[in-house]
Amino acid sequence: MKKEILAKNYYDEISKNYDELYGSEQEEKIRVITQKFKEIILCSERILDAGAGTGILNNFLKNKDLTSLDVSPKMLEKNKNNKKIIGSITNMPFKNKEFDLVFCITVLQDLNENEIEKAIKEIKRISEKAIISFLKRSSKKETIIKFLKKLTKIDKIVELKKDIVLLVIF
Ligand SMILES: C[S@@+](CC[C@H](N)C(=O)[O-])C[C@H]1O[C@@H](n2cnc3c(N)ncnc32)[C@H](O)[C@@H]1O
Repeated sequence: MKKEILAKNYYDEISKNYDELYGSEQEEKIRVITQKFKEIILCSERILDAGAGTGILNNFLKNKDLTSLDVSPKMLEKNKNNKKIIGSITNMPFKNKEFDLVFCITVLQDLNENEIEKAIKEIKRISEKAIISFLKRSSKKETIIKFLKKLTKIDKIVELKKDIVLLVIF
């Protein structure tokens, strides 16, 4: 079965408890990320949160034109953003360069190698730049870095306690 289908089933299942289980960890991570990249955020208007989940990023991007996309309808039900789209990051229903900036926070490690490549190509197609984070201990770390190096220009790398965060430009 495709990893994205497994991810949908898994996150649908844990959606009720996601914030309780991971909310404070993700919120702290997102607080640091949005602080470290505040200049980039300031000059970006149309923003996509790809793999948005319950919408922990929303409160940090008030006054932005924010769209939330996720493969799990149940995670999105919890997300209070008013622009929400159910879909996979590997095939997104957006026009070329529709966004100034894409956030992709703790998502890529849920995909297989083929899907990681497709996801990065899709982010590149629809946006000018992206802030991408993934868990340092992920078994997909090398694969993600390989495709980011191949398909993007890495502008900045920040290491957090558990995550690596990259600003990439297309
Ligand atoms: C660990 S959660 C992170 C959610 C959110 N970014 C946060 O920081 O709280 C991973 C999210 O990615 C979503 N996801 C996994 N695979 C996806 C795919 N192929 N396309 C879109 N979303 C996906 C999951 O449904 C889940 O909501």
